[in-house]
Amino acid sequence: MQENIVPHNFGIGQKEREALKGHKGMLLWFTGLSGSGKSTVANAVEEELHRMGVHTYILDGDNIRSGINKDLSFAPEDRSENIRRIAEIANLFVDSGTVVLAAFVSPYKKDREMVKSVVKDFNFVEIFVDTPLEECERRDVKGLYAKARQGLIKDFTGINAPYEAPEQPDIRIDTTQSNIEESTAQIVTAIRVKLELKN
Ligand code: ADX
Repeated sequence: MQENIVPHNFGIGQKEREALKGHKGMLLWFTGLSGSGKSTVANAVEEELHRMGVHTYILDGDNIRSGINKDLSFAPEDRSENIRRIAEIANLFVDSGTVVLAAFVSPYKKDREMVKSVVKDFNFVEIFVDTPLEECERRDVKGLYAKARQGLIKDFTGINAPYEAPEQPDIRIDTTQSNIEESTAQIVTAIRVKLELKN
């Protein structure tokens, strides 16, 4: 199907867009259980980057699974397709010179590896929001763990579907040990050099 697709060489590329924006484009990929705090941490990091003059965009379940990916379930093959499409969307944003913050459970290691290869290793930062299942279940902000325990949700990550934790994430956040300000500082400090901020 792709045999007659020939990419056009455009005059303005990622480098030129990054130069205009004054920083590198990159993808901050937040992975962790439902309720681990991915979106909360991503939101705080985005606010801080925004204050620093960095161009950002958040991709998360709300704007993806209720829009472009609303046709997908939580079965393993649909989760992989979810992550594949997000990787391609994120890649376009990175190409635009934007810092993308993507918060998805992304429970399968192979899918996260795929994201990394789509956006290229040097544009990708894996952030493991490492909140234990017991704590996510205790918080149960959306009431989904209670439902899953009652057997009302199938394929629920941590209950009746797997979560393959990253073994060597670039950044590991422990939300039981550090508060939101500390987690944000940890992430911003870790990516600051990579950003190559011009001012
Ligand atoms: S992923 O596994 O495909 O990466 P994604 O991050 O898009 O998942 O969506 C997860 C969110 O959908 C959870 O935070 C939760 O609110 C909701 N959700 C609904 N059903 C499930 C399920 N079976 N497993 C995990 N999360 C679910």
